[in-house]
Amino acid sequence: MKQYLQQDNWCIIEEGFHHAHNRISESVFSLGNGHMGQRANFEEDYSGETLQGNYLAGVYYPDKTRVGWWKNGYPEYFAKVLNASNWIGIHIEIDGEPLDLAQCEVKEFTRTLNMKEGYLEREFIAQMKNGKAVKVLATRFLSIANKEIGALRYAITPLNFSGAIIATPYLDFDVKNQDANYGEKFWEEVKKYQPNGKDAFIVAKTKKTNFYTATGTNFQIWQVGKEQNLHPFLTDRDKYLAATYTVELKKNEETVFYKYVANVTSRDYDSKQLLEIAMQRIQTATTQGFDAMKEAQAKAWENKWAHSDITIEGDVAAQQAIRFNIFQLDQTYTGEDARLNIGPKGFTGEKYGGSTYWDTEAYCLAFYLATASPEVARNLLLYRYKQLDKAIENAGKLGFTDGAALFPMVTMNGEECHNEWEITFEEIHRNGAIARAVYDYVRYTGDESYLADFGLELLIAIARFWSQRVNFSDDKRKFVMLGVTGPNEYENNINNNWYTNTIAAWCMDYTREVADFVKRTAPEKYTALVGKVNFHEATEIAQWKHIAENMYYPTSEKLGVFLQQEGYLDKEQILVADLDKKHLPLNQKWSWDRILRSCFIKQADTLQGIYVFEDRYDMDTIERNFDFYEPRTVHESSLSPCVHAILAAKLGRQEKAYQMYLRTSRLDLDDYNNDTEDGCHITSMAGTWMAVVQGFGGMRVREGQLHFTPFLPEKWEGYTFKINFRGALLRVRVHQEGVTIENESTQNISLYVHGEQYDLAGKEVLNTNLQAVFA
Ligand code: BGC
Repeated sequence: MKQYLQQDNWCIIEEGFHHAHNRISESVFSLGNGHMGQRANFEEDYSGETLQGNYLAGVYYPDKTRVGWWKNGYPEYFAKVLNASNWIGIHIEIDGEPLDLAQCEVKEFTRTLNMKEGYLEREFIAQMKNGKAVKVLATRFLSIANKEIGALRYAITPLNFSGAIIATPYLDFDVKNQDANYGEKFWEEVKKYQPNGKDAFIVAKTKKTNFYTATGTNFQIWQVGKEQNLHPFLTDRDKYLAATYTVELKKNEETVFYKYVANVTSRDYDSKQLLEIAMQRIQTATTQGFDAMKEAQAKAWENKWAHSDITIEGDVAAQQAIRFNIFQLDQTYTGEDARLNIGPKGFTGEKYGGSTYWDTEAYCLAFYLATASPEVARNLLLYRYKQLDKAIENAGKLGFTDGAALFPMVTMNGEECHNEWEITFEEIHRNGAIARAVYDYVRYTGDESYLADFGLELLIAIARFWSQRVNFSDDKRKFVMLGVTGPNEYENNINNNWYTNTIAAWCMDYTREVADFVKRTAPEKYTALVGKVNFHEATEIAQWKHIAENMYYPTSEKLGVFLQQEGYLDKEQILVADLDKKHLPLNQKWSWDRILRSCFIKQADTLQGIYVFEDRYDMDTIERNFDFYEPRTVHESSLSPCVHAILAAKLGRQEKAYQMYLRTSRLDLDDYNNDTEDGCHITSMAGTWMAVVQGFGGMRVREGQLHFTPFLPEKWEGYTFKINFRGALLRVRVHQEGVTIENESTQNISLYVHGEQYDLAGKEVLNTNLQAVFA
């Protein structure tokens, strides 16, 4: 755990340069706009510890799989979002000495991520070895108003001299991924264009996947409010262009370098036109200019915050943390493009390859449903729908037939990329989360048309998978599911994971229900679908019903709990509290073998199921399971504590809920798990949001209506969150006197607070009193 960042309501601030933590800061201060993103690398040279990272959403490379022992069915490759061109670089040299914060004395360093307006700023004084001192103020952002554009302003002021310095802005596609299985570079140059020193364009393409990308930059030098026309020396080598300027600086006078960038790819345009399009985008950016673009950026963020902000009164650390979580989620996925998804590290690092996991449906969807327009969540769903053919193919490779689909555990384009057999072949519960997302989306938005257009087709394929994956046990007289891995990856190849069996049976039931609904409400579409997927309605539906009704669920009557898996109680039962702290985290201290045989649980598993299907269980059942599983859970996945926080809140265990919430809310800001240098835990950030809104706020959607059962954590004076629901925009404030709900839209809405129904007209404010709320 490291606490070197300053607390502030709207900004993340590093005061004084923390060399040793630079890779952590590079992750935390990352920028993104859904189309591209970058780690907070420096513009000038840096010879210290750094992970260079510029990423373009959806531009990936299929890096050939490396495993010790190949098994049939393994994927051929692991998809990686590529480190793309470094466009921020400006090499600065003063009297032959490069400006490099690892090599000079750094004073008055401040780095600020302004989340309110969406930009990154860095200020410092560098005392060079040669005695020269310069002050630098560097500001940059990736435009969310104009996704293909980014800009930076680099202002340099000599403090103790007047004279010439060298400034070499460059564009560098000759980059690597740190995580490359065979150490190869993934980009090939296609063409370059450097009409003068100011503009530079490189078109490169990825090997194998042939994503063409054009990166263009424009560089300007301004002194005393005027652009300077200097003649640079040009450098042109493979995948690299630079222009070297000699710039005369005056003591105490600011010289400003502007660098604009455009990144366009063949995902969106014809590859032959990319250069021209990049040139047009650069033209747009320079015409608008840095200040106007920065203003537009602030406006765009203002709008995002208006729909998604959470405020916390009386706790700056918590306020900063929750905004950081929301900011990163909004930087990562903006929802206009159904071909994109959310990597567990977003644009902040290479880990997890930028690929899609079940994290999206199980954790992120709820955030986007409540804070953005329904199209955003719909596009997350369509992403899977568009990959349905690949999921059917994937299941086919494993021996499933007749249109059964197994969605991949990890994917970029629908193909499975994960290659540990116990996860690839066994962690099949992901199929359940993908089906459940359809249900969650329809329940939240009321958009039932989705079912006939896309949902049912996907559900049929998933139900078919489950019906083939189970087998009938003569011994148990029940359907069983053998050889699986549940969400708890600390045990593999187990039989009858309660969560997987539960969600599988639910999928089959829900598919029947949706089939019936579509047949009644959209008969033509239904008939077309029956033909398209060769749906043997009567037999398949009867089969799903039979399996779901006769599914086996391991249970301990004695303890009154559902069993995570059949053999769970055979394990030596120890509680985390009884473990010497020196054993934690288990994944770093214990052998894998020891972990697998232990009773310790990596992340919510049975409790994940209870969270998802909470309405099925009474409070006693929830409590018994919580009290059994929580003390055995080590929460070594950041996706875990939020589920426990929500259940603790439901059980009225407010202190426990708060403790659980704290485990993820500042996970990256305080480098809680010692791994933020690899990137931030973006998908767990959605879990933090869930802990506040569903946990503390107790928000649920039941029968098309919003319900709140909020409580106020003791440490806070009050908090507010925003909810976008079926055209209404609500600001829910929970404070010491009660709950205030302001309808910021003109849409009337009926909702429940602690079980009491209220009708709220557009623009109306509802105040519920203390008794009603905290009774
Ligand atoms: C978790 C998975 C998760 C993945 C990516 C793993 O550590 O166990 O549930 O999908 O990380 O976030």
